Amino acid sequence: MDKIVIQGGSELHGSVRISGAKNAVLPIMAAALLVEGVTVVRNVPDLRDTRTMIRLLEMVGAKTSFENHELTIDARPVDTPVAPYDLVKTMRASFYVLGPLLSRFGETKVSLPGGCAWGPRPVDFHLKGLEKLGAKISLEGGYIQAKADYLTGSTIRFEIPSVGATGNLMMAAVRARGTTVIENAAREPEIVQLGEFLNMMGAQVRGLGTDEITIHGVDSLQAADIRVIPDRIEAGTFLIAGAMLGSIELEAVEPKHLKVVVEKLEEAGAEIQSDQHTMKIHCTSPINPVNITTAVYPGFPTDLQAQWVALMALANGTSIITDTIYQDRFSHIPELSRLGARITLEKNVAVVMGRDQLIGAPVMSTDIRASASLILAGLAAQGTTEISRIYHIDRGYERIEEKFRTLGASIQRIPE
Ligand code: UD1
Repeated sequence: MDKIVIQGGSELHGSVRISGAKNAVLPIMAAALLVEGVTVVRNVPDLRDTRTMIRLLEMVGAKTSFENHELTIDARPVDTPVAPYDLVKTMRASFYVLGPLLSRFGETKVSLPGGCAWGPRPVDFHLKGLEKLGAKISLEGGYIQAKADYLTGSTIRFEIPSVGATGNLMMAAVRARGTTVIENAAREPEIVQLGEFLNMMGAQVRGLGTDEITIHGVDSLQAADIRVIPDRIEAGTFLIAGAMLGSIELEAVEPKHLKVVVEKLEEAGAEIQSDQHTMKIHCTSPINPVNITTAVYPGFPTDLQAQWVALMALANGTSIITDTIYQDRFSHIPELSRLGARITLEKNVAVVMGRDQLIGAPVMSTDIRASASLILAGLAAQGTTEISRIYHIDRGYERIEEKFRTLGASIQRIPE
């Protein structure tokens, strides 16, 4: 397993290009299974998760080619609507194929994802929603079997908005008979883009970006060509790096997806200028302590909570960080403590007592965003930080060490 080794303390300067959004491309790739045609997806980030989804698409029979961030998916030959445990257990987003495969084939078998590094993460909303559309759902040998000669539009209300369940049900409902209404739907930009992609294919999805999405079923869809939106979580991670360590310009970014993150960074003392597709951040010293509570979009994203803890570990005072989306998503805290961060955790609330300096140490990465948090802390710490199990970072960040190196960081990947 590769390691990342960082000599901390270098100031960061220069510009970095933000990649396409992981959480947008994965459902778009699943949606390509809806049509007997050739989909083209541009600005595709080259990530371990993208590669896993490509393998899954090929397993169900699609032909793909992926070069220079352009992915072509020929879904005409798809004939095996089964998503195996080996893939789904490594990437929960594989569950996104459930809706499209059921819609296209009238039956499918998709492995249940199981637990993950930050808690149980159920899929009950996806399943209850499909049942409302008329699917028969059963569990056999760890696999969800879904069957429906045809799906029928219905009203589905989520207890809490779920990104994955909103996406899955949108994809299932586009060819259902009649109208489906999803109440308390996710409003994340990645879900908006999925809906726009479905509309480009001929679907009729309305209310995107609001909490009520209406889908009028259509008889057929055609393949489309789409460019993936910038990754707001990668962008947020580099903004936090800028707030900690220097002066960074982000290119190919979508500032309007980062409003709350920018507000919080400004409260922390950073100076930010945004243009249409660029953002500049300058750090100021000291870093003010700023509380955050994660929330569904447009609130502060849970996917930036771990990185915010790293920033607050160096703040001039105490801050309180609450994760309301995932109560257990704090595996970065014991590792940040190894670098000298002073953090106490009670349930889903972390209290971070900032200090002037962190000191490098060997640490272990446990999931994508925890890894990003450890890289940020390592870049700021005095001395050497060695991060093991770094494969997690490659799931969600493209060549992160190269991007930080071009900004002046001393960071190397050491292959095993
Ligand atoms: C997506 C993102 C992930 C992000 C998360 C929250 C992708 C590929 N992943 O994950 O990076 O951290 O949104 O922004 O886009 N829930 C249920 N039952 C369900 C589904 C969800 O109880 O059937 C709960 C979850 O446990 C969680 C909350 O709903 O507490 C939100 O989860 P959800 O939005 O579904 O997250 P994902 O789509 O898995």
